[in-house]
Amino acid sequence: MSVLSGKKILLGITAGIAAYKTANLVRLFIKSGAEVKVIMTPASKDFITPLTLSTLSKNPVSSAFYDKEEENELWNNHVELGLWADYMLIAPTTANTLSKMANGVCDNLLLATYLSAKCPVYFAPAMDLDMYKHPSTKTSIEKLQSFQNILIPATSGELASGLVGEGRMAEPQDIVAFIEKDILSTLPLRGKKVLITAGPTYEAIDPVRFIGNHSSGKMGFAIAKTAANLGAEVILISGPSHQQIQHSFVKRIDVKSAENMYNAAHQYFNMVDIAILSAAVADYKPKNVAHQKIKKKDATLEIVLTPTKDILASLGAIKKQQFLVGFALETNNELANAKGKLARKNLDMIVLNSLQDKGAGFATDTNKITIIDKNLTESSFGLKSKTAVAKDIMNYIVTKINA
Ligand code: C5P
Repeated sequence: MSVLSGKKILLGITAGIAAYKTANLVRLFIKSGAEVKVIMTPASKDFITPLTLSTLSKNPVSSAFYDKEEENELWNNHVELGLWADYMLIAPTTANTLSKMANGVCDNLLLATYLSAKCPVYFAPAMDLDMYKHPSTKTSIEKLQSFQNILIPATSGELASGLVGEGRMAEPQDIVAFIEKDILSTLPLRGKKVLITAGPTYEAIDPVRFIGNHSSGKMGFAIAKTAANLGAEVILISGPSHQQIQHSFVKRIDVKSAENMYNAAHQYFNMVDIAILSAAVADYKPKNVAHQKIKKKDATLEIVLTPTKDILASLGAIKKQQFLVGFALETNNELANAKGKLARKNLDMIVLNSLQDKGAGFATDTNKITIIDKNLTESSFGLKSKTAVAKDIMNYIVTKINA
């Protein structure tokens, strides 16, 4: 999966011959899982039709401040478009638009949107070689870079004029690769490896029965996705769970029992920078597992349980540089219990959720947490979706590891 997956991209098209390549550009963005909206300068419509682009982007294409053909003459809100976007790309950027962007001219919807956009802006110039070389163009490019706009340099090759030289718009696949690489380089967890445990464990009683719990895995999976979106390479060790995750940065390892999870966690722990153990691991397992299905009888049946190994504590005992995070799901004396675990298991931080709080815990889509760090500083958060909680947890970890 691409870092562009789920991202909103505003593509501005100006009137260069390279505009014909934007059909492919839109397709590539859509393929990478991004949502695309297109704005065109009026003159660019002579090079590629809005119909092509609206069909490929699955969104209406705008080019004027209002649509005359519409019955109510709908205003195209450039501020809204600018705020909608996670990233704006202007490709091709003609010398004319470059110069207007550099000077704050906004005599069309694309330029007004550019001035309103708060997101990173990429621009891919395209023009004839002499225009590209002109000091005026160079000055515009430098000025845009000084505004923190990101240049996707033109390449050398055959130009529409028949001349050969620098000025060709970068190829669509190179533009997408450039943006992906650039986004990745800004992500706070790039180059970091994160181990996450999630879900319940099943402890076999016999070949068909087990002792389990109600953990859904939602919290751990949300943390895995958030960590991956922040650029981390994630190893997600999951007990039996219906949760799905599709992200090229996440390697999912499915396990069943606490012992399987212990072995997998130890296999990867030495390679990671951060370990977040959110799984609801069984504390006990049947001492003996029956090889055959246990038959029904009238007499009572007793199953003798033996403790499982505490994965978190065992990692705490051997940790070196790793930032180790545990969870505490408590029903009473919550803070004291969580702080006790933090110290006993040698953690860098613990995430406490109390079953006293409505909407917190296992089966819900929401959670309410308090984070306690090594210095016993407490930070409490409100009731939120597990996705939002995962973001709070990961942002907290990012600040801690960068401190
Ligand atoms: O001590 P307690 O089981 O309440 O601690 C909960 C924390 O310890 C969680 O982070 C859980 O994932 C972890 N844990 C573990 N292995 C166990 C039991 C709990 O990693 N066997």
